[in-house]
Amino acid sequence: MRTEVAIVGAGPAGLLLAHLLAADGVESVVVESRSEEYVASRIRAGILEQSTVDLLRTTGLADRLDREGDQHHGIYLQWLDHGQSERHHVDFVGLTGRSVWVYGQTEVQKDLVAAAHARGQEIHYEVADTALHDLETDRPSVTFTDSSGVDQRIEADVVVGCDGSFGPSRSAIPGSVRETWEKVYPYSWLGVLADVAPSTDELIYAWHPDGFAMHSMRSATVSRLYLQVPNETSIDTWSDDRIWDSLATRLGHGQDGWTLTPGPITEKSVLPMRSFVQTPMRHGRLFLAGDAAHIVPPTGAKGLNLAVADVGLLAPALVALLRKGDDGPAAAYSDTALRRVWRCTHFSWWMTTMLHTSGDPFDAQLQLSQLRWVTSSEAGATGLAENYAGLPIGF
Ligand code: PHB
Repeated sequence: MRTEVAIVGAGPAGLLLAHLLAADGVESVVVESRSEEYVASRIRAGILEQSTVDLLRTTGLADRLDREGDQHHGIYLQWLDHGQSERHHVDFVGLTGRSVWVYGQTEVQKDLVAAAHARGQEIHYEVADTALHDLETDRPSVTFTDSSGVDQRIEADVVVGCDGSFGPSRSAIPGSVRETWEKVYPYSWLGVLADVAPSTDELIYAWHPDGFAMHSMRSATVSRLYLQVPNETSIDTWSDDRIWDSLATRLGHGQDGWTLTPGPITEKSVLPMRSFVQTPMRHGRLFLAGDAAHIVPPTGAKGLNLAVADVGLLAPALVALLRKGDDGPAAAYSDTALRRVWRCTHFSWWMTTMLHTSGDPFDAQLQLSQLRWVTSSEAGATGLAENYAGLPIGF
């Protein structure tokens, strides 16, 4: 096969890139090791930043988002002070003029798949043994075994790795060039989806001596909730009753007239948390986008938004390279993308370490001090709001 851009990975980064390239008449072929159904059903965070929504709108991908998504003006930060819950709203719109939308990554993925089908995008699902070749030449290629067991080769002008941290692209950058940074957190999240109307109008992030808890949502009838748990926690030790009891305690059920309504849990899983960055994001004719280059812990919901920002920069850079022979934007891609990557890496780490208990009483006092400052100082609140609602693409 011959194409202009070979894209490894059909998650949101890969499919959005294919969509943006197609809008400029650039041809691509996508390969994906999983099935279409598997990719579409992976549960991820559900918050879209202002610039993500802007990009989806300008590229014709936001019809359902505009109908079904829920615009939020801010979040609640909460903590326990001498046995009493303190809950404060941080008003992103008032502070920065920007907001966020509740719309699950699974929904974004469905919209991208529908758009790919509509334009006849070539996607090979359930491929095996994907390998990248000749990346330092202007004729790179990707080989794989297709779902019928036939060996295939895509010859391209450019290869883009959108295949997450376990895909082959990341390690196709030679070890002599590659640098990585990693932080593994000493706790995980237990996440549940429940068929019950949210007990809050906007997300609640709660600090509690028993551990962090969060109340998020997917729709008017589906709630998404999280509890901080120790690493290596077995899901079998958390019955539905234990989950709801812990959520009620940590989220402050019964305080100031607020109640948490429990409901049937339809999914539960334990999510480890780490920060990871690999540089550079370009080597020769290979470019990395999304989780292939960086992983953030889920606090602050930056993962999908960072992937969208990468692709929003990369697509025009590839168009300039392939249509005008201009390597300038492509040469700047890695450094430009990494400025935002490190900003979001810091923000996710900051939100995570401000809200999760470490067991150290000194840390707890610093966290409480920080929470009081962020919610009472306009400067503190604006810093959080600007980062949460998201910096412009190209920041
Ligand atoms: C989610 O709804 O899954 C979610 C929302 C906000 C976060 C993390 C996860 O910070």
